[in-house]
Amino acid sequence: MKNINILAIESSCDETSASIISDGKILNNIVATQSVHEKYGGVVPELASRAHQQHLIPVIHEAIESSGLKKEDLSAVGFTRGPGLMGSLMVGVSFAKSFAYSLGIPLIDVNHMQAHILAHFIDDPKPSFPFICLTVSGGHTQLVLVKDYLEMEVIGETLDDAVGEAFDKTAKLLGLPYPGGPMIDKYAKEGNPGAYKFPLSEMPGLNYSFSGIKTAVLYFLRDQLKVNSSFIDENMVDICASVQHTLIKMLMQKLKRAAREYKVKDIAIAGGVSANSGLRSELGNLAKELSWKVYIPKFEYCTDNAAMIAMAAHYKYLKGEFCGLDVSPMAKMKL
Ligand code: KG4
Ligand code: ZN
Repeated sequence: MKNINILAIESSCDETSASIISDGKILNNIVATQSVHEKYGGVVPELASRAHQQHLIPVIHEAIESSGLKKEDLSAVGFTRGPGLMGSLMVGVSFAKSFAYSLGIPLIDVNHMQAHILAHFIDDPKPSFPFICLTVSGGHTQLVLVKDYLEMEVIGETLDDAVGEAFDKTAKLLGLPYPGGPMIDKYAKEGNPGAYKFPLSEMPGLNYSFSGIKTAVLYFLRDQLKVNSSFIDENMVDICASVQHTLIKMLMQKLKRAAREYKVKDIAIAGGVSANSGLRSELGNLAKELSWKVYIPKFEYCTDNAAMIAMAAHYKYLKGEFCGLDVSPMAKMKL
């Protein structure tokens, strides 16, 4: 019988990516990162769409070439339908439709957030159902109860900023380049996490709020800079360590509560912020303390990538969940 070969495309934000999956095995994961946004201190949607237009065909070409397959060997085309930036999504969706149409093969729409979670099934060890996944990225912060590959329930989420945004906005206040999360992580390693105290937000249930910390850091820095204009330079590592400590504490409080309430011990994290070394080591501590089994995907599968879209497309293919050629992207899309 013919293998199930799927080409998957990711273009929801500022990474243009393509991947080929064959019978559930990822063959490659080609990613073109857009550096054009760095000087603006954040992703500029219009520039992102233009960069996707430029990068998409070369990235797809490379994915097909390096897989050893031919276009005619493909069984389906998977793509990110949402959530994401509308202009960016439209580039990927339009290409996916035309390509599937020209080859006469089915089209599979994928939810980007579901795909971040399914990245856990690319490599071993894999979590067992049900598990809780904390998805932490520049656009999202969600606690998801994962009951099966395509059966997921959001049990908590941020009501304002995503945690990645809190990292990036704090970094901007400190004069660090975008994206600031990795820089804060780097400085935090050398600093004292107890040096400064920032308020923990108290949201009901399993929900989060991260907009307050940005304002707290803003006022804190304003007051300190009044008395010492070199305050940031002199205390960078301690400020970074303290902010990071506060953000991780907030993330872990609700994660612990979710694990307790749902009686789940398989815990996964996904999304760009899961690269954070402080978050990883705190999860390691909790794993020992609470007998959790913790799952963290390889870094290349944590940030935005098409391999995770391919994994989701594979499971949808097995269930026969295809979409029509009249499908349109969705900037906001529920799990
Ligand atoms: O998942 P992702 O690549 O893109 C989406 O937002 O969908 O996540 C990007 C976010 C950015 O906010 C970036 O600052 C953050 O992940 N990030 C980190 C680290 N690496 C990436 N935040 C904290 N520590 C890190 N090491
Ligand atoms: Zn993402």
